[in-house]
Amino acid sequence: MTLMYLTGFGNEHASEALEGALPVGQNSPQKVPYGLYAEQLSGTAFTAPRHANHRSWLYRIRPGATHGRFEAHAQPRFHNHFDDGTTSPERYRWSPFPLPSAPTDFIDGLFTIAGNGSPASQSGIGIHLYACNQPMAGRYFYDADAELLIVPQQGSLRIATEFGVLDIEPQQIALIPRGVRFTVDPLDGSARGWLCENFGAHLRLPELGPIGTNGNANARDFEAPVAACEDVEGEFELLAKFQGNLWRAPIGHSPLDVVAWHGSNAPYRYDLRRFNTIGSISYDHPDPSIFTVLTSPSDTFGTANMDFAIFPPRWLVAEHTFRPPWFHRNIASEFMGLIHGEYDAKDATAEGGFVPGGASLHNCMTGHGPDAASHAKGLAVDTSQPQHIVDTMAFMFETRAVIHPTAQALDAPQRQRNYWQCWQDLAKQFDPSRR
Ligand SMILES: [Fe+2]
Repeated sequence: MTLMYLTGFGNEHASEALEGALPVGQNSPQKVPYGLYAEQLSGTAFTAPRHANHRSWLYRIRPGATHGRFEAHAQPRFHNHFDDGTTSPERYRWSPFPLPSAPTDFIDGLFTIAGNGSPASQSGIGIHLYACNQPMAGRYFYDADAELLIVPQQGSLRIATEFGVLDIEPQQIALIPRGVRFTVDPLDGSARGWLCENFGAHLRLPELGPIGTNGNANARDFEAPVAACEDVEGEFELLAKFQGNLWRAPIGHSPLDVVAWHGSNAPYRYDLRRFNTIGSISYDHPDPSIFTVLTSPSDTFGTANMDFAIFPPRWLVAEHTFRPPWFHRNIASEFMGLIHGEYDAKDATAEGGFVPGGASLHNCMTGHGPDAASHAKGLAVDTSQPQHIVDTMAFMFETRAVIHPTAQALDAPQRQRNYWQCWQDLAKQFDPSRR
């Protein structure tokens, strides 16, 4: 597979699976080469500022309108009902959910764990787990409510989209814009990870300020697919997520029939291992916003609808500093997952623990931080020596609004009901006679 580099956001890209399919000099000629149909896919308002404007032109075998009538489709584990109970300030953690034993595709294996806001309000996020062991044979999905951030934890995925094919493995991510039709095929037999629906503004690279022109996630590492057209007919199904519910329409052909495309509204993938981690080389450590890969801004300047941050391998060199993440209470709410290895603020050997595939939720103003064992380790470190944290990859969805766990997530046997106890062994150390 050949991939082109995304050199920035809001830039134009073009790809064609058949030479000469892309019209030259105009978007919608009276007759498109090879008898294709021209169709625009808008990802932002027509009048959005140029640097933030996302739209693409697709040149396809049949227009996107060519499908049957929609009817409701039931998959009750996948939803956006985030306000159906009283949300507690409790700290939550979940052990990994099992891979399915029965044949399950990507859509049937979705399980909503938490979220906030709604598609109608165009703010907030939905946090879902996916677990599957079957390709989406003859089923094509799009989400009209949100752009989708896919974070694999186990097993590779082949994501075939209207724009082409993206293969991703754990420690890579993929982003599917609103409305883009796609299928998912677990390449290693089974797969598990997280799916974040972003109801708010597009995820984009954060501003770098004094960091300068390079660093954190570099724009050149975001890869868009090349056009790859499916010219296939059959009794297929088009699944849509629309206003929180799933809908199904019959379709007599693969909607992944785009022969050429150009524009700025396209899926992409990114390898989290390419993140250029920046931190302190003197004392203390910066706020975790220094680890932001992508941000979805809100209407309030500097306050994100959602930040996607990671905690990758890195050197810790700050002297006379408590090096693990500090104890804190945050105005924002934090959903974390562990993709790989061990997280430096939690003891993986503790009962339940924070292990790959596991997740935690620390909501607004809820006290959290290193557990007792990790705190003791942090105190014992010789900070005159550098410390290399390897074999780790955790992520965080951080939102300005409180994240509500769903009833099914609270009831799940994977919920670690004794999680709160991990801070109870933090003994009193205060001694007024010893500074
Ligand atoms: Fe936190």
